[in-house]
Amino acid sequence: MSETNHSATPRRLFIKTYGCQMNVYDSERMRDVLAPLGYAPADTPEGADLVVLNTCHIREKATEKVYSELGQLKKLKQASGGRMTIAVAGCVAQAEGEEIMRRQPAVDLVLGPQAYHKLPEMVARVARFSGERLETGFETLEKFDALPTSRDADGPSAFLSVQEGCDKFCTFCVVPYTRGAEVSRPVDAITAEARSLAAQGVRDITLLGQNVNAWHGAAPALSGEAGEWSLGGLCRHLAMIGGVDRIRYTTSHPRDMDDDLIAAHGDTPELMPYLHLPVQSGSDGVLKAMNRAHTADHYLSIIEKVRAARPDIAIASDFIVGFPGEREEDFEATLQLVREVGYASAYSFRYSARPGTPAAEMFGHVPDDVAHDRLQRLQALLREQQQAFNASKVGQRVHVLVTGRGRLEGQLHGRSPWMQAVHFEGPDMLMGTIAEVEIVGASLNSLAGQLPARREVAA
Ligand code: SAH
Ligand code: SF4
Ligand code: F3S
Repeated sequence: MSETNHSATPRRLFIKTYGCQMNVYDSERMRDVLAPLGYAPADTPEGADLVVLNTCHIREKATEKVYSELGQLKKLKQASGGRMTIAVAGCVAQAEGEEIMRRQPAVDLVLGPQAYHKLPEMVARVARFSGERLETGFETLEKFDALPTSRDADGPSAFLSVQEGCDKFCTFCVVPYTRGAEVSRPVDAITAEARSLAAQGVRDITLLGQNVNAWHGAAPALSGEAGEWSLGGLCRHLAMIGGVDRIRYTTSHPRDMDDDLIAAHGDTPELMPYLHLPVQSGSDGVLKAMNRAHTADHYLSIIEKVRAARPDIAIASDFIVGFPGEREEDFEATLQLVREVGYASAYSFRYSARPGTPAAEMFGHVPDDVAHDRLQRLQALLREQQQAFNASKVGQRVHVLVTGRGRLEGQLHGRSPWMQAVHFEGPDMLMGTIAEVEIVGASLNSLAGQLPARREVAA
């Protein structure tokens, strides 16, 4: 019997990801849509048939990296006799697609964050030397609909994109321009993807969105609930899927932190006690100029409510120092807010002017050395708090989701409910399980633990 071979020619795919978790998720999905064409992931760009740079536009440095990386890739492409296809995806692609093609002719394809499902078709166009090579439309729902809900999981933790885009227009930020308007993915598609992940052993799901708590959707008929759910309703729904033990979401905006979501932190044990709620600044004047649409007090009142619902919750944030017009007293208000909240972890950045954003036109440039000095002072305080938060777990037994092997022989590592990295000695069979670990040490970035000595069971 003759058999037709339908399997595609094996090809090598290298994807390099910059920026936020949305990009990490998107890179995984690009891998998924390219797999049926025979593309298998490679660890290095050397010898790859297709190289995708999934880029980030958020700060100037992030953008610059793309052009220097493309310079390197051009050489590899030449060495391959032109066989390598180079694609630029992500937020720089969206923001400056045409400029990329002009500045680096070695680039074959440019596609924005809403066009990944078109990647196979675009790759085919390059092979045919015909058709459009730039896709930067904004059909987010089309993208969500086109991506298969079955997934190949990689380990016990996974990202799941539920929302995209941003309507907030903070004056410093490019995201509303690169990712488009806020769009929520429907409950059924999210549930199907979560089930597919759980069936493959995923126990920990992080729901993603540029403003993830702006997510809202019609409650499914089968849930017996009428009307709209906010993210709180979605979390409770996903928590009922067998095998899904841990749910997180990121990144949220203070304006969308509604009472139902706060209540879910109290009534849904699967919702992990960790909240990344960026405040950016503690000064009301700066918050206003940033168009954050909340005051420092409003933010503090949200934190208070969240802590009332879930007393052990770890709070994280992002900060920007040196925003145009930021005075020393504004910066001190930020330090004061940090002292009041007590953060478990945080990201802090020097303001970077982004072309096309309103803040880039504002007066009151903060000199680099002043901004640098403020960043150092803020980071020193945040480090102190992070160290103290980690140290507070020493002596406790915590549930660690074991995600892999540690650096040392016989060591495993995993995550605490509060997102801390934990390493401890243990057998490989614990991989992918939730182990009870006694915390015996804490550093700035991780906890050291040990498996509790097993009690003798009387025969
Ligand atoms: N949607 C999220 C943040 C997305 S960007 C939110 O609203 O919180 C991630 C972080 O990058 C932001 O929280 C902010 O702290 C930082 N950031 C964004 N634009 C920036 C800029 N122009 N300069 C410096 N940091 C910036
Ligand atoms: Fe950017 Fe603000 Fe939207 Fe966050 S909420 S993505 S900081 S515009
Ligand atoms: Fe960067 Fe785009 Fe994410 S600009 S932070 S990759 S949304």
